[in-house]
Amino acid sequence: PTPRSFYDEVGGHDTFVRLTRTFYVEVAKDEILRPLYPEADLGPAERRMRMFLEQYWGGPRTYSDERGHPRLRMRHMPFTIGPIERDAWLRCMHIAIASIDADTLDDAHRRALVDYMEMAAQSMMNSAV
Ligand code: HEM
Repeated sequence: PTPRSFYDEVGGHDTFVRLTRTFYVEVAKDEILRPLYPEADLGPAERRMRMFLEQYWGGPRTYSDERGHPRLRMRHMPFTIGPIERDAWLRCMHIAIASIDADTLDDAHRRALVDYMEMAAQSMMNSAV
């Protein structure tokens, strides 16, 4: 039998939809982050982020079917990501994670998500300022 993935344990697709929806609502209001996004419509960026996270946490592999290997550091090179951008990104992500209720996301799963996001945001930095 296939072990239950983290993706399944935290409520699958619905949870990742809610997480990335809230994250991009915050990005849209953020004066540091919003100007970095080239497109007027944040919908496609939200969808790519959702597919990536679903795949990373053991859900459907739609991201790589459509986009190939993630290569996230390389895909972020066009944007200057220093400590200010990292912190703005994490602020939005912390709000998004906090918005998932405790019945869906218990403390251990919440901690795992937060730890991953902090590590990932740190590793995406490509500028000292
Ligand atoms: C794409 C900003 C960190 C995952 C993008 C884009 C921007 C951006 C401007 C292009 C929007 C688009 O797709 O049209 C930032 C900033 C970060 C950050 C300022 C600060 C730390 C992260 C982290 C992750 C992530 C930590 C993953 C955990 C993605 C994904 C895409 C993306 C999956 C779409 C890649 C693709 O084209 O397939 N990001 N990002 N980003 N970002 Fe970030």
